[in-house]
Amino acid sequence: MCALKKTVVLVGMMGAGKTTVGQHLAKRIGVPFLDSDEEIEHAAQRSIAEIFTRDGEAFFRRRETEVLSRLLAGAPCILSTGGGAFIQEMNRDLIARQGVAVWLRADLDTLWGRVRHRNTRPLLRTPDPRRTLAELMAAREGIYAEAGLVVDSAPGLSLDRMCDLVLEA
Ligand code: S3P
Repeated sequence: MCALKKTVVLVGMMGAGKTTVGQHLAKRIGVPFLDSDEEIEHAAQRSIAEIFTRDGEAFFRRRETEVLSRLLAGAPCILSTGGGAFIQEMNRDLIARQGVAVWLRADLDTLWGRVRHRNTRPLLRTPDPRRTLAELMAAREGIYAEAGLVVDSAPGLSLDRMCDLVLEA
C-alpha cells in the first residue's frame, strides 16, 4: 500500500537539495520520485538551459505549470520542483489543492557552495552569479515560507536525517 495520501512537493532555491533529498526519501518510503524539471526536459527533448535560450523563460514557466498539474493529478509521490515553480501563484494553488508543500531551506553559503561549479542553471548565467542567487533568494523567501512546512537543509545533516525531518514535518 502507498505510504502517502498526498504528493509531497519539495520547494526551495536552486541548490537546496530538493532532488537529492527527494530521491532518497522516495526510496526510503517506497514511493515514486518525480522531478518537474526532468519531465519538462524529457517532453521538450532538450535541457532546461536550451529551453531558456531557445524558447525563453515564459515558455519554460508555462511548461512547468502544465507538468505540475499533470503530476499532481497522478498517484501520490515525492515531487521535486524547480526553484521558481512555487513562486507562481497558480502553481502554489495547484500544490495546495493536491499536494503538501515542504520548503527545503538553506542559507546562501550552502546554496552557493552547491551550485557554483555547475553551469546548468540559466538564471545564474550573469556577471555576478552569487549576487544573483542572493537577490533571487531575498525575493523568494517570503513566498517559500507560504509552504507552511519548513525543513532546514544544512550541510552537516545526513540525507537520512533530512528525510526524517521531512517525514516528521
Ligand atoms: C530555476 C531553478 C531550476 C530550474 C530553472 C529555473 C529557478 O531548478 O527549474 O533553471 O527559477 O530557480 P533547480 O531549483 O532544481 O535548480
